[in-house]
Amino acid sequence: MTTQASRGRPPTQLTLLSPAKINLYLRIVGKRPDGYHELETVMVPLDFGDTITLQLRKTSITLECDNPNLPADDTNLALRAAKLMAETFQAEKGVKIILQKRIPLAAGLGGGSSNAATVLRGLNRLWQLERSVTDLDPLAAQMGSDINFFLRNGAARCRGRGEIVEPIPCRLTATVLLANPGFGISTAWAYQRWAEQNRPLTVPPTDISLLCRALETGDLDGVARALHNDLERPALWKFPVLELIKTAMREAGAVGALMSGSGATVFGLFAKRAQAEEAAGQLRAQFGAGMWTQVCGISQG
Ligand code: C5P
Repeated sequence: MTTQASRGRPPTQLTLLSPAKINLYLRIVGKRPDGYHELETVMVPLDFGDTITLQLRKTSITLECDNPNLPADDTNLALRAAKLMAETFQAEKGVKIILQKRIPLAAGLGGGSSNAATVLRGLNRLWQLERSVTDLDPLAAQMGSDINFFLRNGAARCRGRGEIVEPIPCRLTATVLLANPGFGISTAWAYQRWAEQNRPLTVPPTDISLLCRALETGDLDGVARALHNDLERPALWKFPVLELIKTAMREAGAVGALMSGSGATVFGLFAKRAQAEEAAGQLRAQFGAGMWTQVCGISQG
């Protein structure tokens, strides 16, 4: 992060990483009366993401985004977060948000949620509101299910819609290869298909506590054995290319591979960075120019 502040004066500009996340575990445990699904999920933030610059303004709140496919209007979570922050805490200050998008859209990597959380955290500093994370929690929960996770920026076990966040220790230092086939999957579609197709699994998922223990001890093989995502089945059924990507990652040396969140991004966990780089090249060669890849690490917070 970089800031521009001169001798003791509060910053007038902040530049922040808005990280992507992956779900190492996602289990749907029921449907809620509000239409959402009750989850048990484990997410880790990555050291890769979008860049958000916040420039202090007098009163206006504006957004500039370098991706023309992402509207910079009131549907954009970054702008909504800033307006909600101003309104809730009567900040009477403005901001120009400059969003450099690197995380693919509708990709299961939490890009929009991360942007919202980064704006909440950043404005808390820029506007000197001095609110705690728990003060920001209700604003996050109001805008989406993963935003509370990103407010904390560490590995976490999440429940409810995803908004009940329990930070967990993580000593895993694997290299992560992200691969996105170039199409998005709507989160609402993924949950709906799951509900329609839901049948008991032939092999029940590993207990979430095994994953948490493996993360705590930094046991990559243990983490790979416990990877699970209930939303994978409907996505793999509709988009068989996702299974091909998983297989290609494993053949290239991934210890484990899984679709993240509601997809379509697949991630592979590698013991060595060089292996992940090579696998990325192989995937692009095998699947063509539409295949987006990114090699990164797990953020240590
Ligand atoms: O809250 P968020 O914007 O991330 O969710 C997008 C959509 O995904 C919701 O409108 C809902 O249809 C579905 N969803 C769900 N259960 C969750 C999270 C999301 O059904 N726990």
